[in-house]
Amino acid sequence: MSSTYKGITLWFTGLSQSGKTTTAQLVAQRLRERGVDRMENLDGDVMRMGLCKGLGFSKEDRDENIRRFYLVAQLLTRNDVVTVVSAISPYKEARDTARALIGDFCEIYVKAPLQVCADRDTKGLYAKAMSGELQGFTGVNDPYEAPENPDLVLDTEHMQPEENAERVLAWMEEQGYLAPVGATELATA
Ligand code: ADX
Repeated sequence: MSSTYKGITLWFTGLSQSGKTTTAQLVAQRLRERGVDRMENLDGDVMRMGLCKGLGFSKEDRDENIRRFYLVAQLLTRNDVVTVVSAISPYKEARDTARALIGDFCEIYVKAPLQVCADRDTKGLYAKAMSGELQGFTGVNDPYEAPENPDLVLDTEHMQPEENAERVLAWMEEQGYLAPVGATELATA
């Protein structure tokens, strides 16, 4: 069966309020417009209400959280679903495990300085963390291990979400996961 795309996990990692969900949703929308009809969006806040309900924010719980993400993403990706993950996923080892397991994988570092994220603070969590009321908050009093070799770095401080989404689509085209506009099927390697 010919197709204009093939399965991959697009893994968005970054601080809370860095722009993961916004960018991931826009990428999903653009992909839909490009005819990608097998796609799933796994978002941290949503997963924590369902499959990952009951998990907290200790290292153990975050590792378990991310394990569930990558096991689901693996199943989807190998069935040719474009799987869009957005989760802080602060630990490098867990992200590396996800890549090794899934194979077809793009690590996307959604990058914004801590202060920019704290200024966005739509949920009021940075204010609580910075005042000491909330402990174990990523970037303030809990670690975030930035990717050392991400496939893409998206600067959400200076770039617009549309530009960042386009970069993801361009990467997918370059790497053979998405056919160029107008093509009726993926070029075979
Ligand atoms: S992860 O670290 O396990 O990957 P995940 O992406 O699922 O985190 O969830 C992060 C969301 O949980 C944040 O966007 C924020 O709304 C909320 N949250 C609540 N407490 C914390 C905390 N201590 N650290 C980070 N995020 C928190």
